Amino acid sequence: MSVAMELSVGQVAERSGVAVSALHFYEAKGLIHSVRTAGNQRRYSRDTLRRIAVIRVAQRVGMPLATIREALDTLPDSRVPTRADWTRLSAAWKDELEQRIAHLTLMRDTLDQCIGCGCLSLDRCRLANPEDALGDQGSGAQRWATALKQSRGRRGATRPRE
Ligand code: FES
Repeated sequence: MSVAMELSVGQVAERSGVAVSALHFYEAKGLIHSVRTAGNQRRYSRDTLRRIAVIRVAQRVGMPLATIREALDTLPDSRVPTRADWTRLSAAWKDELEQRIAHLTLMRDTLDQCIGCGCLSLDRCRLANPEDALGDQGSGAQRWATALKQSRGRRGATRPRE
């Protein structure tokens, strides 16, 4: 990285509108990278500004940092990312965004019903327990009940008849 092409942390903060502390956080999470000068100061390449813009937009739509990092890790290390690289990255997020939109739509529709109800029941409220994948199989501990049935079935099959 050429020193003339590098930005100090203060310059990046000023141009991106992101606080220095947030830049340090992004770097600690592996979302952006710097090199150190002989005086141990951070220097960022100019494409870091675009990375930060992408991070901010992704955070605004609720993308987890781990997902953002995975996507940024697909960008080339050996050269400045091209428009095609950024287009590929945003296309890869389309499915994730559609899932989030579907989930939020379900939450919004459920909220209408729940405002009048207020029970927040773990058995039947999708707002209180939105990830209840086994909820349609009945209330209670479905995995435990299934394991118990299987255990009884095995014991019954191997137990000698009296
Ligand atoms: S609050 Fe009662 S079903 Fe959601």
